[in-house]
Amino acid sequence: MKALRAALLRFDDHGHTVYEADGALVLAPDAQGRQRVLDVGPATEVLHRHPQVVVTHLPGRLLAPGFVDMHVHYPQVDVIGSPASGLLPWLENYTFPQEARFADPAHAQAVAQVFLDELLRNGVTTALAFATSHPQSAQALFEAAQARRLRLITGKCLMDRHAPDGVRDETEQSLIDSEALIARWHGVDRLGYAITPRFAPSCSDAQMQGAGELAARHPDVWIQSHVAENRDEIAWVRQLYPQARSYLDVYRHFGLLRNRAVYAHCIHFDQADRELMRSSGAAAAVSPTSNLFLGSGFFDFEAAERVGFLHGLASDVGGGTSFSPFETMKAAYFVGRMAVEQGGVHKPGLSLTPGQLWWQHTAGAARALGLEGVVGNLAPGCEGDVLVLNPQATPLLARRTQAANSPEELLFALIVLGDDRVVEKVFIA
Ligand code: GUN
Ligand code: ZN
Repeated sequence: MKALRAALLRFDDHGHTVYEADGALVLAPDAQGRQRVLDVGPATEVLHRHPQVVVTHLPGRLLAPGFVDMHVHYPQVDVIGSPASGLLPWLENYTFPQEARFADPAHAQAVAQVFLDELLRNGVTTALAFATSHPQSAQALFEAAQARRLRLITGKCLMDRHAPDGVRDETEQSLIDSEALIARWHGVDRLGYAITPRFAPSCSDAQMQGAGELAARHPDVWIQSHVAENRDEIAWVRQLYPQARSYLDVYRHFGLLRNRAVYAHCIHFDQADRELMRSSGAAAAVSPTSNLFLGSGFFDFEAAERVGFLHGLASDVGGGTSFSPFETMKAAYFVGRMAVEQGGVHKPGLSLTPGQLWWQHTAGAARALGLEGVVGNLAPGCEGDVLVLNPQATPLLARRTQAANSPEELLFALIVLGDDRVVEKVFIA
C-alpha cells in the first residue's frame, strides 16, 4: 500500500469536478497485482485513516486520472500533418500508403512502441485504437500494450472494397481473423478487442453483415468505426445505400449500434441520428483537431448534451494533429465557441467549462466506453492510472497558474497553455 499527496483532481458520479488543494490518494494492489485506488480525499482525513501508509509528498504538483483517448489510429503516427483538400484524398494519398507498410510485422512492432511512448508521454493511459487491416498489426499493438500493462482496446480494420491493394482485405478471411483475435486477446490482462469496420464505404454488405453477427456473438467486445465526418463521404454513402435513412442508419441496419459501439466524428447528424445514438447506447468520439485539420466540420456539443447521447474526446491521430489531450480539449473549447447558422436559425456558441472538457477526456470518455469505475477517475476501486502534472512546466504556465484564483482558472490555464511538458510522471496500475 502506498499514498501520493498533492493537489488532486477527480470527478463525482454526476461528472462534476472535485478538487482537493491538499489531497491524498491511497493505492493498493488487487488480486491480479494491479494497483487500485483504495481511498482518496483531503490529505488530513485520508492519511488519518491510513496511519501506516508510506506517503510520497509532491508539493506544487497536481494528481489527475490518466486521460482516455476514445479514437486514435496507431498506424497513422507517420501521417500526422499530411495536408489534403478533405478526408477522401487524404486517405488515398497519405493514409492508405502508410497503412500498407503494416503487412510487415517488424514495422508494426516498431510503430507500436513509438505509439505507446507518445500516448504515455502525453498522459494517455487508455486508448481505443484502430490498427490496419493486417491482423499482425493488431497483434503487434496487443503485445506491446500487454508488456506495459496498459488498458488498451484495438482491432484489425475491416475494409474489403474501395481500398487499394495492400490494405484491402478479403471478406471471409477478415471475419475469421477478427474472431481469432477476439479469442486470443479480448479480456486478457487489461486488453480488449474492437470489431473495426473502417467505415461504410470500405466494407461490402457481406462484411458489414459478418461484423454485426460477430458483435451479436460477443456483446462485451467493442465496435469502432467512423460516421458523418465529411460531406463528400456522406454523399458517397447515400449512393451506396440509397435505401438507408442516413449514414448512421446503415450501421443500425447491420446491427452495429449498441453499447460499446464507438463512432468517430458524428458531425453531420440530424435529430433522428442523435436520438438513434441515445436509444442504441452507442457513443461518439469527438476529434476536434482532426475535424479542423481536415476541414470536416464542427461537432455540435450542445445538441449532444440536449439529446443526451454518450460522447467524449479523442485525438484521431493522424487526421488529428496532436497526441496531447491538452490540445484536444483546447480545440474542443474552440469548436464549442463557434456560433452556427442551422436551418436559418442562429445558434450562439457555448463555453464548455474546463471541468466539462477534462471530464470528456477522462471519466466521461470512460463512461462512453463502458469503463466507468474502471479507468478515467481517481475514485475508490478505479485502476491506478495516475498522472503527476506540473503546473509550472513552462515559464508562462508557471506565471499564469500562480495567478489562478480558483481550480477552474488553474484547469483552464493548463488546457490552453499545457502540453506534454506538463506530464511529469505517469503511473500505470
Ligand atoms: N474514415 C475512414 N477512415 C478514416 C481515417 O483513417 N481517418 C479519419 N479521420 N476518417 C476516416
Ligand atoms: Zn479516425
